[in-house]
Amino acid sequence: MRKLQLWKVAILALAIVWLFVSYKILLGSKYSLHSNAANEDRIGYLQDEQSKKDNSDSVVGRLGGDNQDFKNGNWTMRDAVIAELKSKYRLNFDFPLQDTPWEVAAQWVKQREIHPEYAPELGSILHALATQKIVSADFGIKGTQLKMSVILEGGQMAIFKPKWFSRDHVIKGSPYGGADRHNGEIAAFHLIRLLEFRRAPLVVGRRVSMKKEIMPVATDRLLQTFYSINGSTCFYGRCYYCKDNTTGVCADGDIMEGALVMWLPKQWKLKMYKHPWARSYHKGKLARWEKDPEYCDKVKVTEPYHSGPRLMDLVDTCIIDYLVGNADRHLIETLGTQSDSMVTMIDNGKSFGNPNHDEFSILAPLYQCCRIRYNTWEKLLIMQEGVLSQVLRSVLKQDPISPVISEPHLQALDRRLKTILEQVQACLQKNPKNVLVKDDL
Ligand SMILES: *[C@@H]1O[C@H](CO)[C@@H](O)[C@H](O)[C@H]1NC(C)=O
Ligand SMILES: *[C@@H]1O[C@H](CO)[C@@H](O)[C@H](O)[C@H]1NC(C)=O
Ligand SMILES: *[C@@H]1O[C@H](CO)[C@@H](O)[C@H](O)[C@H]1NC(C)=O
Repeated sequence: MRKLQLWKVAILALAIVWLFVSYKILLGSKYSLHSNAANEDRIGYLQDEQSKKDNSDSVVGRLGGDNQDFKNGNWTMRDAVIAELKSKYRLNFDFPLQDTPWEVAAQWVKQREIHPEYAPELGSILHALATQKIVSADFGIKGTQLKMSVILEGGQMAIFKPKWFSRDHVIKGSPYGGADRHNGEIAAFHLIRLLEFRRAPLVVGRRVSMKKEIMPVATDRLLQTFYSINGSTCFYGRCYYCKDNTTGVCADGDIMEGALVMWLPKQWKLKMYKHPWARSYHKGKLARWEKDPEYCDKVKVTEPYHSGPRLMDLVDTCIIDYLVGNADRHLIETLGTQSDSMVTMIDNGKSFGNPNHDEFSILAPLYQCCRIRYNTWEKLLIMQEGVLSQVLRSVLKQDPISPVISEPHLQALDRRLKTILEQVQACLQKNPKNVLVKDDL
């Protein structure tokens, strides 16, 4: 416990330093920031970081705000931040568990997070997900995309999303096109974890033997959709786009690669809503938000977005979706049914399709509302200047199907992060008082 505390303090100190550096770089001296903001309840105002820190014990406090290193951006500090974050998010596959992996994971789920920030058990749970015996396999239970639902020894349910594309395949065409990317699902989970949203179910890569691990435990109705092409085992399952043996997916010989997504505990019910910024999905037909730049003003006064965390949850979600290139979030799923239930970041298969295209419209909730959680902004600042790709690359190396995403995708993340921060800065320039939201939870 004590070790954890010290470690947290160290991270925090480094994070604050980097935040401060970033903040200087980002804002320059354009803003003199005040600690006032006698602002209504929820809408915060960036406090004067320096006056807060000067007398404190923090590294920033000791170094002093006038230090040239900080104004210029100190690369030694950046490397230290990268090293700290790498070690913070490193998975330990052998961490001893007090309970079964499934029980530990089930107990983690809370109203506003699916796993805790400090979760040393995560590695062991992901390892279990990647290796435990599959005791039954069936169709995916809903949706448009082909998948299997499996039960692992010990009763844990999970969804297997199969591999369709090679790592360097680029999805062209509409920003929401193409079959699910199993590898994108894995990368998105870790990205969501690195930005401390913690709103995505656990995911790990896994290669399964169709003949040894799936067929002996598959339901008849699933088995009926199996076929083979050129000696490779294929299946087409059942889903909206699943028709027959022309719409199926094939293993590499007997081995099918996929992402295994851990199902949430039964007592946590997901509730689906239409996303206020959903696309029309019709060529030539625009959604309301595409026609009306003031659209957010209307959403802001509508239940359940008029109060509580819902609207800012959508902004967080659009940040993740923009980073990964997911233009297909037409539904939102909340964990529970209360007005402060979190918007989960579930189902990230439509991601990492095209590293050369940044779909700006995904950010509409951010640039139309011009609001962002202070905490989110802080996390993004820490990740700029290439920190994000470096830390994520190192985390993804640990996945059983590494390399999870190609280099151009990692670089796209850094580039898109920059765009997000520029967007926030543009908002701050227009209306410095109402952009950063504090304490809406
Ligand atoms: C950057 O910061 C570190 C740690 O505070 C310090 O030791 C180092 O001298 C600084 N580097 C430069 C180039 O100023
Ligand atoms: C099967 O293999 C042949 C010869 O290697 C190849 O021409 C054909 O495209 C393959 N069929 C499929 C569906 O992969
Ligand atoms: C696919 O299904 C059709 C019609 O049921 C069948 O004629 C064909 O042989 C099947 N192809 C393969 C590769 O199993």
